[in-house]
Amino acid sequence: MKLNFLVYGSGAREHAIAKKLAESNFCNKLFLYGANDGFSNIGAALDEENLIESAKKNKVDVLVVGPENPLCDGITDEFLKAGIKCIGVNKYWSQLESSKYFAKLFMQKHNIKTAKYKLVDSVTDILSVPVVLKADGLCKGKGVSVVFEREKANKILAELLAGKFGDASGQVLIEEYLLGDELSLISLWDGKHLLSFLPARDFKRKSSELDSLNTGGMGAYTPVKLSDVQLQKLKVYENSLKKALQEENANFVGFIYSGLIWHEDDFYVLEYNVRMGDPEAQALLTHMDSDLGELFYFALEKRLDEYEFRWKQGVSACIVLSAANYPEGSSVGKKITGLPDSGIYYAGVKKQGAEFFTNGGRILSVCANGERPFNSAKKIADSIHFEDKYYRRDLDENQMIF
Ligand code: AMP
Ligand code: GLY
Repeated sequence: MKLNFLVYGSGAREHAIAKKLAESNFCNKLFLYGANDGFSNIGAALDEENLIESAKKNKVDVLVVGPENPLCDGITDEFLKAGIKCIGVNKYWSQLESSKYFAKLFMQKHNIKTAKYKLVDSVTDILSVPVVLKADGLCKGKGVSVVFEREKANKILAELLAGKFGDASGQVLIEEYLLGDELSLISLWDGKHLLSFLPARDFKRKSSELDSLNTGGMGAYTPVKLSDVQLQKLKVYENSLKKALQEENANFVGFIYSGLIWHEDDFYVLEYNVRMGDPEAQALLTHMDSDLGELFYFALEKRLDEYEFRWKQGVSACIVLSAANYPEGSSVGKKITGLPDSGIYYAGVKKQGAEFFTNGGRILSVCANGERPFNSAKKIADSIHFEDKYYRRDLDENQMIF
């Protein structure tokens, strides 16, 4: 079976997805929408003005959506109407990510463990800390604050409600702080069956400091070593998610990302996303030996129960290179040198002639596989240069303190 795929999105995650599809035995033609200059050469660009018409004209069979925004805007509903299959949730189920309150109601209804919370739309006095404040809506990963001082908590709550993120922070969840190690479980749902990738870990904080800023993610690795009890609890969690989606007749083919925390001997859900994580996807797709096009084909056929992943040996890791002032600031227009030919996925870059320049946000992802993949990735990261380059040197595949 050969399919024409269209990958939607511009970052390192989409680069990783597109590269795997370009290598797939199930891929006939690869089209890209929004690709940055670091991977625009591996597929054909489609006309931006009228993407659906352009996709139809080019006989696109399957749209694969990387980021959350188009999913939350309902892109898959539109493509499905035009007769194009999709890997990506519909607008209704994208609310698992676009509304933290919707996600809480889903978890409450299906007895899925999560932190206690209160939803507020006007200022209330926060009396005890630590506490977690979460804007209800989508804020590009910047709407969550873990706060350890009461005064600061009240200040942040007031700022959020005053419209720091517009409508997205008109309602805020004041959430119980849970202490524990985090795990990202990325699963593919085919409308009937749920199939999970290996558990991954994402390092969201800018540095190892507990109260350092939350970012889109500064690194990731997979698989995470788990004890027998944790593996068993993870299976229980996965089954409860599968059962919930089955009971809801959730009618989509796409990713569900469970952001989990190991707390008081069980997994609690911190958040849902409706896409692969970035940078977890880069680590997972580096680790995956199977054919991604085949996986998507099985999902579209609603046969994920028959699918078995093949993985590489060892561990796969990803380190994100950003500007030193990310996420508050960014680097634009700085020349990048020392780029290797493989093992990297591009994000915030622009090409001029044969040279690459920084172009904001997370600049690129360096990935490696082996027994000590972070060491290998750090060596590559050290050989890449641009002004104010930053990456987390503390990352280690054994860092989990389970
Ligand atoms: P979220 O976008 O909801 O996953 O939150 C971003 C990050 O904030 C998570 O990855 C955690 O590190 C932290 N966080 C979120 N909710 C909680 C919580 N209830 N307790 C402790 N940390 C949390
Ligand atoms: N790595 C977490 C995310 O993609 O939101």
